[in-house]
Amino acid sequence: MSGVSFSKVGVVGLGTMGAGIAEVLARGELAVVGIEINRDALERGRGHLEKSTGRAVKRGRLTEDGQRAILDRIALSTDFGDLADCDLVIEAVPERLDLKRKVFAELDRVCRADAVLATNTSSLSVTDIAVSTGRPTKIVGVHFFNPAPVMKLVEVIGTVLTEDGAVGRVADLVTALGKTPVVIGDRAGFVANRLLFGYLNQAAGMLEAGHATRDDIDAAMKVGGGLPMGPFTLMDLIGLDTCLEVLEAIYAESRDRRHAPAPVLRELVTAGLLGRKTGRGFYSYDAPAEAEAPADAPRPVVGVAGDGDAPAALGEVVRGDLSGADLIVALDEKALAEAAAAARPDAVLAVTGPVIAAAVASGRPADVVGLHFPEADRPLAEIATTVVTGEGVADRAAALVAALGLTPVRCRDRAGHIVDALRFPYLNDAAAMLGAGYADADSIDAAMRLGCGYPIGPIADLDRLGLDRAVAVLNALYAETREPALAPAPLLEEHVTAGRPLR
Ligand SMILES: NC(=O)c1ccc[n+]([C@@H]2O[C@H](COP(=O)([O-])OP(=O)(O)OC[C@H]3O[C@@H](n4cnc5c(N)ncnc54)[C@H](O)[C@@H]3O)[C@@H](O)[C@H]2O)c1
Repeated sequence: MSGVSFSKVGVVGLGTMGAGIAEVLARGELAVVGIEINRDALERGRGHLEKSTGRAVKRGRLTEDGQRAILDRIALSTDFGDLADCDLVIEAVPERLDLKRKVFAELDRVCRADAVLATNTSSLSVTDIAVSTGRPTKIVGVHFFNPAPVMKLVEVIGTVLTEDGAVGRVADLVTALGKTPVVIGDRAGFVANRLLFGYLNQAAGMLEAGHATRDDIDAAMKVGGGLPMGPFTLMDLIGLDTCLEVLEAIYAESRDRRHAPAPVLRELVTAGLLGRKTGRGFYSYDAPAEAEAPADAPRPVVGVAGDGDAPAALGEVVRGDLSGADLIVALDEKALAEAAAAARPDAVLAVTGPVIAAAVASGRPADVVGLHFPEADRPLAEIATTVVTGEGVADRAAALVAALGLTPVRCRDRAGHIVDALRFPYLNDAAAMLGAGYADADSIDAAMRLGCGYPIGPIADLDRLGLDRAVAVLNALYAETREPALAPAPLLEEHVTAGRPLR
């Protein structure tokens, strides 16, 4: 392969990640040595390799000859001595520092003095591993994502001890393998997990606080946040034990209580409910529920009160005489009070701005909910209830909104509702990471797009949403929670003042 300075690469541990990494290397025409702890584990590793490449053959993405060539390039062994002539070794054993140190001590003993040794750790300190070897200048992190043959992102981590050439050589290899390297320093969670897990833990905390339900939070982030799946579906997929482990590691370094695992996560893990792999986590997977077909409801009459444009998601609306409206959406407190006086007794009243004060001032507080559309072109409506919302009113609001073809989700009347409350802290963390110089905008955006399936990277998303809006939402979240990390990152405020986007 051109531009690659490694010709024989070892992989230690042929589990989920190691087998995938070995396959990627062999597909890149490198000679690979795969090491396992014993014969049984080696056979399991062989099974992973055969199954994964076999699947590619079935899907027509690989010929049988191609599969054979890939498998022939991977020599399997239980003897670390077979790594003696490798010029790079990638470790992918379970995420325990004592075990990794033991493996690296062995690698240090058997490998050539000029060989680069890499760890695929997700959240342990690469520096901690490096200092336990006699060759800390040759130790790097190379963080592949699962499944390795598919995922394009690889975070390449250099410590303060790593020699300049080693990181560059590994990054060149990653590029030659058809993947995108993001080169960064050694901080817990690196870029992708650091940003992702803060968000996932916040979602778990939101559930724990009774702000919204699991299903509503998942639907909100999928439909309104534009993500491939909601946070609880994703945590179940990752495995709740892994989530807990990654959060613990990030918290140990950040000491930011937003990274302290939400109690519900620990409770589920202690109960052995680890997500998809055990059949139950936040969701149950044994008996898939039959999806209920929504009944065809007639389109309600929607009235809009107040000056300004009606939210586009509402479609056709009535203005002026609102006496026939099923749902009245007021654009401010004054308009709500006027509309409440004219509305039918059974109409649902909604306000797009701050809810509780407007509800109280309306004279019909029990009939009032908040209605928020986080994205003009995504069909999500957040329905916020207050302490005075009457029983059944949120249900009626949800049914009316659903009859408009929108996905309704419910939450309490809190800053940012669901989508903004979850995405702006994440975006703020990305801005803080950029401001601290940990990674550049391209790296941060690539990490979240390619590593976590975000349709757009956080730095580009901040520019899309507007930095002034980001600062306003973050200030509201900060005022409500007094959480220091929710105050807008100085870089955001600086760009707002300068009137310049981040990119
Ligand atoms: N699973 C993921 O989604 C994921 C993603 C990125 C990074 N990682 C990281 O990759 C590493 C491996 O994770 P995994 O999910 O593949 O684990 P895994 O449990 O699927 O595989 C680990 C393998 O290491 C083998 N092993 C254990 N001790 C060994 C030893 N002394 N010598 C040789 N082999 C040994 C085991 O037999 C097993 O096959 C961890 O550091 C993890 O944090 C995992």
